[in-house]
Amino acid sequence: MKQFLYLRKIFAVTSIFALIFLFNMCSEKEQVSGTVKITIDPAQTGPEINRHIFGHFTEHLGFGIYGGIWVGPDSDIPNTRGIRNDVVEALKEIKVPNVRWPGGCFADRYHWREGIGTPEERKTRINVSWGGAVEPNTFGSHEFFDFLSQIGSDAFISANVGSGTVKGASDWLEYLTSTGTALGDERARNGNSEPYEVLFWGIGNESWGCGGPFTPEEYITELKRHLTFTSNYNPNVNTQFVAVGPDSYDEYSFGYTEAIMEAWADRTWTWDIHGLAIHNYTRGGWPPLIPATGFNEQQYAEVIEEALEMDQYIANNRAIMDKYDPDTEVSILVSEWGSWLAPTEGTDPGFLIQQNSQRDAVIAALNFNIFMRHAERVHGANIAQMVNVLQSVIHTEDEKMVLTPTYHIFRMYVPFQGATRLAVDFDAGKYSFGNIELPRIDAIAAKGKDGKIYVAITNVDPNNTASLALPFEGYSIENVSAETLYASTIDAVNTYENPDNVSPKAINASVSGNNISLTVQPQSVTVLSIAVK
Ligand code: AHR
Repeated sequence: MKQFLYLRKIFAVTSIFALIFLFNMCSEKEQVSGTVKITIDPAQTGPEINRHIFGHFTEHLGFGIYGGIWVGPDSDIPNTRGIRNDVVEALKEIKVPNVRWPGGCFADRYHWREGIGTPEERKTRINVSWGGAVEPNTFGSHEFFDFLSQIGSDAFISANVGSGTVKGASDWLEYLTSTGTALGDERARNGNSEPYEVLFWGIGNESWGCGGPFTPEEYITELKRHLTFTSNYNPNVNTQFVAVGPDSYDEYSFGYTEAIMEAWADRTWTWDIHGLAIHNYTRGGWPPLIPATGFNEQQYAEVIEEALEMDQYIANNRAIMDKYDPDTEVSILVSEWGSWLAPTEGTDPGFLIQQNSQRDAVIAALNFNIFMRHAERVHGANIAQMVNVLQSVIHTEDEKMVLTPTYHIFRMYVPFQGATRLAVDFDAGKYSFGNIELPRIDAIAAKGKDGKIYVAITNVDPNNTASLALPFEGYSIENVSAETLYASTIDAVNTYENPDNVSPKAINASVSGNNISLTVQPQSVTVLSIAVK
């Protein structure tokens, strides 16, 4: 009996502990699943979100162009003048505002004359920058502009500073944009009598590294010479000249922003810049070893933590630029960004082929949100890269094509192009893994060109859904729709066999009075479209 009473006591004590434990668990869970209030005031408008924030980058690298965009007019793969129809159709959907070309590191080895004229005139080269592949130069200036006109996009050309000459670069821009000159006539003979429109002209690429290497002072000398002697001759477009800026946390590029802006503030009438190209990859060190798929939660959290560093990187550059350019005459263009992960096993490491998962979709959404939060100064960004290279939006293999989770984020964010940012207030909460602590929720809001309010919400937490409430005091809600990109595992991918594994779905958002409420899935990205009166 005594023994029985003793056991009962132990049972009671353990039950109390169990109850306390359970209560703690529940209250913790309660805390995680508590409703997040996202308050938006449609009357509090911020800057315009430049559509060029959703730009792309395609380089002569691996299957980025050859195979991915260009298959040649004689290919069995359906094409228009050599350019894949399936890729063009997919890109039209995401309204690509500009494409940066021909590199990357390749740009400072590219000689434009080798890529114009008849097939016999094209020069075969070795692509020393990327895998030693044969570069046939069949995709050159005319093919690039044909591609742009098929997808409805603007041109961002990076001129060769490293191995080129000022004359070479200035002739190229004259060839592309002039009429009634020897170079303009040559362009006409090569098939295009109308001058092309070049919206962005970059003076080199990563001139502190593969495009140089130049110290900031050496680069500024090159920059001034290029800008003084290079002109756009097409009166229909105001070409924006873009200087090379730094790489994130890179000792070689250190000082570029400060030195260039200081020189710009002291510029003479012969030269000017309109943009500074800064680069920042999510790559977890060098060489990039983070697995693109088959990763665990630790690797998810680490990568998202690194992706969020984009915010501080932009803020640091903005602070320097604000000193010399308080009126924002020079934009930040994040002309290379994205995840740079371990290459897919069995592929040429020089081709930078990697899988693209739901984690990449979250990275893309968080980066877009950061760019939009810095919309006062960030007027452009280019994902690296467009097709088959790094965090691409499209993968192809021969005649097959698949849209990646990142593609779907570009598509879902189309209404943010040219929209007006709105003030948004919310308590992000916390998602922690080990000693990594991240904001659990991210949200951005804008008034679209169609007058609707668009809210993009990322639930970074891979373990918990989030209940959200969006009160619109003083407004009546006419209509709401919501679309979400969610996958049940953080490393879910789309494959040729299962192309819709990760694809956006409509979800329910309920309206009660002037409140919207909805629940979003873990590791998901949701875009709401709201009509208010
Ligand atoms: O996007 C791949 C490479 O990354 C580019 O060629 C270069 O500019 C950068 O270092």
